[in-house]
Formats: sequence, structure tokens, C-alpha cells
Amino acid sequence: MDISIIGTGYVGLVTGVGLAEKGNRVICMDMIKEKVDIINSGKSPIYEKGLNELLEKNIGKNLVATTDLRNAVLNSDVTFICVGTPSKRDGSLDLSSVKNASKGIGKILSEKDSYHVVVVKSTVLPGTTEETVIPILEENSGKKFISDFGIAANPEFLREGIAVKDFLNPDRIIIGSLDKRSRRIIEQIYSNFKCPILRTDIKTAEMIKYAANSFLATKISFINEIGNMCKKLNINVYEVARGISLDHRVSPYFLNAGLGWGGSCFPKDLKALIYKAKKLGYEPFLLNAVFKVNEEQPQRLLDMAKRKIGSFKGKKIAVLGMAFKGGTDDVRDSPAFPVIEGLLREGANVTAYDPNAEDSAKEFFGDRIEYADSAENSLKDSDLALIVTDWEEFEELDFREMKNRIVIDARNIVKNRKGIDYEGLCW
Ligand code: UGA
Repeated sequence: MDISIIGTGYVGLVTGVGLAEKGNRVICMDMIKEKVDIINSGKSPIYEKGLNELLEKNIGKNLVATTDLRNAVLNSDVTFICVGTPSKRDGSLDLSSVKNASKGIGKILSEKDSYHVVVVKSTVLPGTTEETVIPILEENSGKKFISDFGIAANPEFLREGIAVKDFLNPDRIIIGSLDKRSRRIIEQIYSNFKCPILRTDIKTAEMIKYAANSFLATKISFINEIGNMCKKLNINVYEVARGISLDHRVSPYFLNAGLGWGGSCFPKDLKALIYKAKKLGYEPFLLNAVFKVNEEQPQRLLDMAKRKIGSFKGKKIAVLGMAFKGGTDDVRDSPAFPVIEGLLREGANVTAYDPNAEDSAKEFFGDRIEYADSAENSLKDSDLALIVTDWEEFEELDFREMKNRIVIDARNIVKNRKGIDYEGLCW
């Protein structure tokens, strides 16, 4: 199949490279020329495990990048929209990139004779494809949806860091469509994937994406709430989590208690769904609470630190990890940030270390904190260590160079607990 992909962020690029690897001819389109040049040179502009290898293997053969939308659409039968949909202040989505992409595709469709399917992979609230994307495409192409062109919603469930693996081995594929022809074409693209395929209408597919992320965030906030109680009762929440997860109805995943969830997806998607609920005149009690539990975890860590060492003023505090989770350089909505802000507010000298996220964190904190080039250097002479991201290298840390060997682990990652005053956030 000839496919074009609009947007080369982690979703677009992974989708493009993954579909090329599966034997399709793929054109990745992005407005940013530097990105396109890097991709065409066989390198990935973003870090995703395994992406460079697959890119190098496919580029110039059945994969090419371009800044030319016209060329991408005219030389493909299916176009995936994979542009960003960031949050606005009120929680609603900034759809400007989706609208621009739809407008551009629509204009080009006006000069195309053959049938074309547009697939919305960007995360959009239920109703957006039908109420916004289809009208823009029709208006700009002068053509009619169903008779002249097709539409499908195909949400992504990729986790940052392991997106390539997730793309090639998905748990399921959701194809939302209103007409048989588009559905069959998208089914053909995914015909060599070994997983269940669920066919729905477009709105349902859009909702599945939000329900999936909200449910996962709910699991984490749930176990954090149980963990906050466990801490008071001197119970290890990880044993409790194991105890409940042996029930096949629960499943053991996303029950790691700690500092809570962040990243570019859960906070944005929950906010958007809460916004949508309110627009519908429904008060989403559970989702509000899921958010609230999450927002309070960083303060819990700070309170615990205060109980351990008293005032933060003038104390040297090592913060281990700044990324929103291990395995990425992404600091968007990282729970590490409110922790660092809280420490700075009360006069602490923060020395932070993250194996990947230092550059992204610097853009935010500048010279308000110090950046260590290794975990050991951040721990040196410190009064307290806070472990905030689940990087594997934090499992076997050496705390001997600390001034006071007080360690609060907010991710249950430290294995080497001998000779230190160890405290878990929820255990
Ligand atoms: C999430 C979803 O897992 C993907 O399926 C989805 O496609 C993606 O959002 C998206 O919408 O694009 P991601 O944001 O990459 O993926 O990160 P996760 O691995 O889901 O972790 C999210 C947050 O939850 C992290 O801050 C992580 O530390 C935290 N977490 C995760 C916990 O605190 N406990 C857990 O047990 C699991």
C-alpha cells in the first residue's frame, strides 16, 4: 500500500517506519526541513529504542521523508494525520495542527482522481473527526465523504521509549469508520499484524483512546491512594498490589505505586476528557479524583522529606531523575518538577541527575539547580536523596559518599538498601 504520514513526532515517525518495515511504501511529511533531512539521512530526530535501526534499514527503499505535502498525498492512497493536539489552558485541545493538515490534504484531494482514505491517528476528543475533520476535507476538496474519499479513526497506544515494539506488537488495533470501503483499506494495511482488530464507528474509536489512558491513570491513582494508607499502617503496598493482581480480573500492570503519572499523554488526555464531560453537563467525579490523587503525590514526598530532615534551607538535596518515567528524555508534566520547585521554594540546594533528561530539564530550571554528570556526583555530600524516576541504574546506587545517608524512594526502585536510612513513599 502507498501511505503518507503527516507529522514526524514519536507517533508519526514510529507509524511511518513501522508501516515501511511491514512492506508498505511510506512517505513521511513534516514542515520542519531539518527533521526531514535527518530522517532522509537514515537517522531518527527523536530517541526511541530500535527506531534508528529500522529507519536505516528502510530509508531510501520504501521510506522517504519530505516537506512537500502535495507530493506525499498525490503519491499515496492513504494519509495518516499524526500531528500534535496539545492542551489549552481550559483543558480543551488545540486542534490547529489537525485543522491545518486537514485543510492541506483537502486542497490536494481536489486535484486527485483516485479514491483516498484519510486516517486520524492524532488523539482527538469523540466527535472531532466527524464534526471538524470531515467538513474541512469536504470544503477544501469540493468532494463528498464516502462517495469520493474515505475517513477512519485509528488511535495509537504507543508508550514513549518502547513505541517501536508497541507498534509492531500491538495488543489490539482499533479501526473506527463509517463506511465499508475505508474500513477494508485500513484492514488491509494491518492484515499482517497478529492481534485482535476491533471495528467500531469513528466516535467510539476516539473514545476508546481516552478511556484507555484514563483507565490506566485510574489504576495508578488507585494504587497510590491504597499506598498512602498502607504507609500509615506500615504495610508494603507492593505486596498488596501483588495480592490483588493475582486475581485474573485485575492484571498486574500499572499498579506500581509512587510519585504518580506524568508525560505528554495522561495529564493532557484526562484534562481533555474532564473538559468534554463538563461540556456535556456531566460532572466526572472519578476522573477529578484520579487527577487530585496524582497532584498530591509530589507534596507527600516533600512532607515526608521535611519530617526526615526538618527545614530544607541550605541543605544539599540530591534529586535522582527528572524525566516523567525511565527510558525517555521527556520531562513534560514530569512529577519530578513540582518536587524540585517545592525544594527550591524552601531554600534547598538541589543537585539533580538524569541519564537522559538533563538538557530538557535545563530549558525549564536553567541555573536554579545544579546538574550532576552521574548519580554518584549528585549524591556526594548530600543531606538527603530523593529517587523520583524509575531509571534502572538507580537500582544499585552507592550512597556512601552522602553526608547523611537518608534516602526517600518514590519509585520503589532502590534495591541496595543496606547501610542507609531508607523510606518508601507508599511502602
Ligand atoms: C501512555 C500509554 O501507556 C500509552 O498506551 C499511550 O499510547 C500513550 O500514553 C499516549 O497516549 O500516547 P506513556 O505516556 O509513554 O504512554 O507512558 P506510560 O508508560 O503509560 O507511563 C505514564 C506515567 O505513569 C509515567 O509517569 C509512569 O511513571 C507512570 N506509572 C506507570 C506509574 O506511576 N505506575 C505504573 O504502574 C505505571
